[in-house]
Amino acid sequence: MNATELAPFKDLIRTRCGLLLEGVGEEPLVIAIRKRMAETGATSATGYFAKMAGHEDEFQEFVTLLTINETYFFREPDQLSLLMDRLIPRLLADETGRLPIRILSAGCSTGEEPYSIAIALLEKYGDAATRMVQIVGGDIDHHALAKARAGRYTAFSFRSLAPELRQRYFHPSGRDGMVIDDRVKAMVSFHHLNLLAEHFPPPLSDLDVVFFRNVSIYFDEATRKAIQQTFERSMTERGHLVIGSAETLANDLGVFRLVQDDGAFYFRRGQPEPPPRPVVHSFPTPVAMAPRPPLPTVAAPPPTVVPPRPGLKLDEIRALIRDKRFDRIDLLLGARNRLPPADPALLALEGYARMLARDFAAAAELGKRALAADEWSVDALVLLGLAAKWQGAAADAIGWFKKVLYVRRECWPAHYYLADLHRSAGAAEAAQRCYRAALQYLAEQPDPDGGLVLPLGLPVSEVRFLCERHTGAIQSARR
Ligand SMILES: C[S@@+](CC[C@H](N)C(=O)[O-])C[C@H]1O[C@@H](n2cnc3c(N)ncnc32)[C@H](O)[C@@H]1O
Repeated sequence: MNATELAPFKDLIRTRCGLLLEGVGEEPLVIAIRKRMAETGATSATGYFAKMAGHEDEFQEFVTLLTINETYFFREPDQLSLLMDRLIPRLLADETGRLPIRILSAGCSTGEEPYSIAIALLEKYGDAATRMVQIVGGDIDHHALAKARAGRYTAFSFRSLAPELRQRYFHPSGRDGMVIDDRVKAMVSFHHLNLLAEHFPPPLSDLDVVFFRNVSIYFDEATRKAIQQTFERSMTERGHLVIGSAETLANDLGVFRLVQDDGAFYFRRGQPEPPPRPVVHSFPTPVAMAPRPPLPTVAAPPPTVVPPRPGLKLDEIRALIRDKRFDRIDLLLGARNRLPPADPALLALEGYARMLARDFAAAAELGKRALAADEWSVDALVLLGLAAKWQGAAADAIGWFKKVLYVRRECWPAHYYLADLHRSAGAAEAAQRCYRAALQYLAEQPDPDGGLVLPLGLPVSEVRFLCERHTGAIQSARR
């Protein structure tokens, strides 16, 4: 099938459902066209296009072949904890608010996400949860919705669910399946939803919380913004938007206000806040920094191994950062990290924790101190790049990430961040080169932390998908 035949399919799917089918998306498109041509008896792609574009049922059938339905129970459990431990208690305490609290899982696929919310609520509030909260799931894929309504799952969906919860809320069904308990099923209703529609159907209105996770990666920025505006119109005044953690930054588009709540990020209705004020530290002012010797321009750096300070284990601090236990990190590092000898890895880790807590000035300061202690510290350079990127200083961020690559060529996160910065600046060719390098080094070392001490924890398969998608989009824009 040639590009001219595929073009009208791509345009129609992008305009009506937002899905981008360039690059790696082309293969499933071709497979879908061939499949539906065979099943409907169409003899040419052009003939099938006319049939599909003019008949809603056929259009819906075609779309189900293009959606990616990957999901499982208790995916990204930190965000379920955010809902249970902060958002719901606050909504319950809100005197102006009404009950039940209404939650939408937007792009719910086969139902694991909304059912996980229902299970977490039953665990916390028992039967009272059924009166306190209403959960609705919406998806464009009606086959996925049928599976969600049936509530029957196999082992693949349970990969992240605690065995005791599986026992409590599922019953064996058939040879290899489990069906969800009626109590959970009764808490969730499913509805057909096209996120690109200007207004959502009435059962999907008056929302207090929207879970929109692992869906926005398939849309371009203008589409993501339009969808957020529809979420806003469908929400109550106290609306909250929870987006997958890897997608949150790309969704800070000025429609909702980005909130950081003890290390967790989500959005609230209302305009974005001005940049955060510098935070007053509880620890002593850093000692004066030694001027940093310039980076040499030729020879490759010797590997520097700095032993961690006795009593402070790097892995322990990394685990605390992953769990967002900032209070504990302060206690462990804080003033102790100001004592000589300066340990670049610990300084960078503390800086990274500061950055996650959105204290960018402190993060940059600690990054510079780490660099003063070890001018080859890749962690310090990545930290400085990230702190600059988060503060919108794109040119500085590019400078830091380039230095990272000078010191460690195979650091794939640096290639990836650089690619995004170049793409935002409209430097398509540079972006494409960097996405390709990220893919190459990622294949060699698929470590979510990119081999760094900083626990970046990047979602490897999503990064790979985004690199391929952007490379494909840049390629076809050039044709
Ligand atoms: C990868 S799944 C995400 C499932 C779940 N939210 C999670 O995080 O596990 C993405 C879902 O988005 C749905 N989707 C894609 N485009 C959509 C659109 N325009 N309107 C509604 N749903 C859409 C797909 O059908 C698919 O089921």
